[in-house]
Amino acid sequence: MAQILGIGNATLDIIHAVDSYPRENDEVRCTARTIGRGGNAANSLVVLNQLGHACSWAGVVANTAEGRFVRDDLESNGVDTTACRLLDSGSMPVSTILLNSASGSRTIVHYRDLPEYTCAEFELLDLKSCDWLHFEGRNIEQLELMLRWAHTQFPSIHRSLEIEKPRQGIEALFGLADVLLFSRVYANHQGYDAPEELLRYVRGCSPQADLYCTWGEQGAVALDRLGRVSRQPAIVPRRVIDTLGAGDTFNAAVIHGYLAGLDTASLLRQACALAGKKCSQTGFAGLVQAVS
Ligand code: FRU
Repeated sequence: MAQILGIGNATLDIIHAVDSYPRENDEVRCTARTIGRGGNAANSLVVLNQLGHACSWAGVVANTAEGRFVRDDLESNGVDTTACRLLDSGSMPVSTILLNSASGSRTIVHYRDLPEYTCAEFELLDLKSCDWLHFEGRNIEQLELMLRWAHTQFPSIHRSLEIEKPRQGIEALFGLADVLLFSRVYANHQGYDAPEELLRYVRGCSPQADLYCTWGEQGAVALDRLGRVSRQPAIVPRRVIDTLGAGDTFNAAVIHGYLAGLDTASLLRQACALAGKKCSQTGFAGLVQAVS
């Protein structure tokens, strides 16, 4: 069992399941409505906990009933939240999500009114027994300071970085982590139509890292630091029910693969398998049973 600290977002997700995606200005009924915890780092930690690791989350939480709900949810999923900053002003980030039951696609409208976690707070954490730091690619200036600080003070702790959304200046972080996890959204935004093209471009500015890029129903590709490419087709369930958090699940499974000592091709296969399993079920509960 490894000790993993995730730094990033935790959100309140309000999920409306609909039979088909509505047209603009339609009025439709949802078939189910659920309220749960979300956020990329938070979701990945919940999966990593199921994979047998001791997980903690560092981020900002509003001191409100919604903030309490999100913290309680993390704690009940085995994720320690004592490193979080509790804020008396602002409100919880909220994602209003339309989950199309016909395809499993999720459309997210995100609201945010909360300051970000700072490097000064990060530096106060006790990282002595930490094995892995996973960072969500947001809050770029502070994140750069955190990555540099962690590298200088605790060079033996592995650092992974998720690059899901294009954000101003995020490329400055590519040289600062051991594992970079890219999304198709980011690749497309940079003008790449295939995962390998993005990874070959990134290789130039991060020779130190193993690189991954997910490509939805086409699977994922890895380019390791020795230049070896691994490709894994998606492992698509018979019925895709809920793709919300599939990328977060993939990232968790990659981290787990390293901690379990797997080679790149095997961990890529396992990560695609777990992400596929995520798409076959609603939410994250019981995701890992018999997979790890
Ligand atoms: C899924 C997710 C949701 C959250 C949104 C934030 O990957 O983390 O749980 O609402 O993305 O961008």
